[in-house]
Amino acid sequence: MNPLKSVPGTIIAGFVLALLILLATGDGPITAIGSAKGNAIIIWLHVFSGIIWIGLLYYFNFVQAPALADAATDDGGPGGAGITKYVAPRALFWFRWSALATWLTGAAFLLHRGEFANAFMLGLGGDNVNAYAMTIGIGAWLGTIMLFNVWVLIWPNQKKVLGMVEASADEIASAKNTAFIASRLNTLMSIPLLMSMVGAGHGFFM
Ligand code: HEM
Repeated sequence: MNPLKSVPGTIIAGFVLALLILLATGDGPITAIGSAKGNAIIIWLHVFSGIIWIGLLYYFNFVQAPALADAATDDGGPGGAGITKYVAPRALFWFRWSALATWLTGAAFLLHRGEFANAFMLGLGGDNVNAYAMTIGIGAWLGTIMLFNVWVLIWPNQKKVLGMVEASADEIASAKNTAFIASRLNTLMSIPLLMSMVGAGHGFFM
């Protein structure tokens, strides 16, 4: 069966190829636990899920929302039903689960490095300011707020907007506004978050 014929097949084939490259070029993943390679594997999975999350966040804000606004004002045009019925539910599925996976892998990296508490205390827990923990901590807090927005504000309200749950016209109108603002806030916060994420690993301490 051609793995490229399905999304899961393509993803699994990608991980198999990655594993073969690891085995061919190194002493295999088993020795990675507790090691620097372990850090690299966790961050690899973190950035993979982070690309899906932020990629879909930017798709919703830069493409889908403006497109649906145009469709709504385009008299005699095709309308946005195709997007809201076939595209949005699928995008929201990958969006919310990749958000959770990004948070869990980020937290796993901090636990693996013994920096979880330091990071969430913004490096202010010791006698001296821990610059690395402050840098990654700012990103971790922004990512945590963004995860909250996804699962508590955006997803439940989008279900009302897309008619996946019962809601009155007033409820749908306020749900549309809440989900829109929360999504725009996440877009805004994603920029300093990425500065902190990349900066922490490349010696740019705030
Ligand atoms: C929108 C969400 C997020 C995205 C897109 C994201 C993306 C990234 C990227 C691109 C890196 C840099 C990889 C590198 O240059 O080596 C990174 C590193 C990291 N991220 Fe995130 N991240 C997100 C959320 C989080 C959260 C919520 C946490 C913690 C709970 C976290 C913890 C970390 C840690 C610990 C590192 C490694 C820093 C280091 O190299 O020492 N991230 N992340």
